Amino acid sequence: MALLEVAGVGVRFGGIQALGGVDLAVPGGGVTGLIGPNGAGKTTLFNVVCGLQRAHSGRVLLDGRDISSLPPHRRARLGIARTFQRLEIFSSLSVRENILVAAEIRRRFSRDGSNPRKVADEVIELTGLGPVAREQADTLPTGLARLVEVARALASKPSVLLLDEPSSGLDETETSDLGGLLGRLASDGMSVLLVEHDMDMVMALSRTIYVLDFGRVLAKGSPDEIRSDPAVRAAYLGAEDNPGTTEAASAIA
Ligand SMILES: Nc1ncnc2c1ncn2[C@@H]1O[C@H](COP(=O)(O)OP(=O)(O)OP(=O)(O)O)[C@@H](O)[C@H]1O
Ligand SMILES: [Mg+2]
Repeated sequence: MALLEVAGVGVRFGGIQALGGVDLAVPGGGVTGLIGPNGAGKTTLFNVVCGLQRAHSGRVLLDGRDISSLPPHRRARLGIARTFQRLEIFSSLSVRENILVAAEIRRRFSRDGSNPRKVADEVIELTGLGPVAREQADTLPTGLARLVEVARALASKPSVLLLDEPSSGLDETETSDLGGLLGRLASDGMSVLLVEHDMDMVMALSRTIYVLDFGRVLAKGSPDEIRSDPAVRAAYLGAEDNPGTTEAASAIA
């Protein structure tokens, strides 16, 4: 059974069908990729999973339990954590404080006796944020700020981590470091659903990749299957007026 399952999810914004009956499964452990051209519905799907967006049809299941009617904070308690496409961190707090806030919140609801300071230290160690732990978050370059967001999500000790374009704004070295971190998390048993425009990263990390196009699952398969899928290539290569997707097209091609 999948750890996280999205079944028949549909979302409409007025006349726009952002998602039309999407089925997706994230297994326990490993990275599942979610790719697709701009406007395909990737962020909307994340919002549905987290409870920030109501779906007009379908269900979201976590560990077999239907969580579709739960508010976002209840879903977070059950182990769903995410990062945002537009960076969301507490700018006036230090890196460590940003992480500590998440660890404190988790202690309050989990009652597992975990020490938030210890959790924060572990996450700082894991993400390599030690050298900037005392810096105020809004003084950091984008690459490190993105890492703080990932670290904060990790401090809630999630069972599923949803990452919405974590490499956006990162340079090549930072992207490769982030890929390394995600690979380590996945091999330690973390379940990650990764939305990324960086095809090299998605292809290298994912066991299974879903391709979303106009709110529908266009293809699902291993990186090799996705790379050679004619419909996927057409969807990417067909959108040459879009810089993001053109880049994606050349990575697939
Ligand atoms: N709150 C909203 N109100 C109206 N339309 C919306 C809203 N959010 C998203 N949409 C529309 O829904 C569709 C899917 O958007 P979404 O942001 O989920 O795409 P995406 O795959 O994340 O794209 P990108 O790669 O650019 O981040 C788009 O047509 C978008 O314009
Ligand atoms: Mg998006």
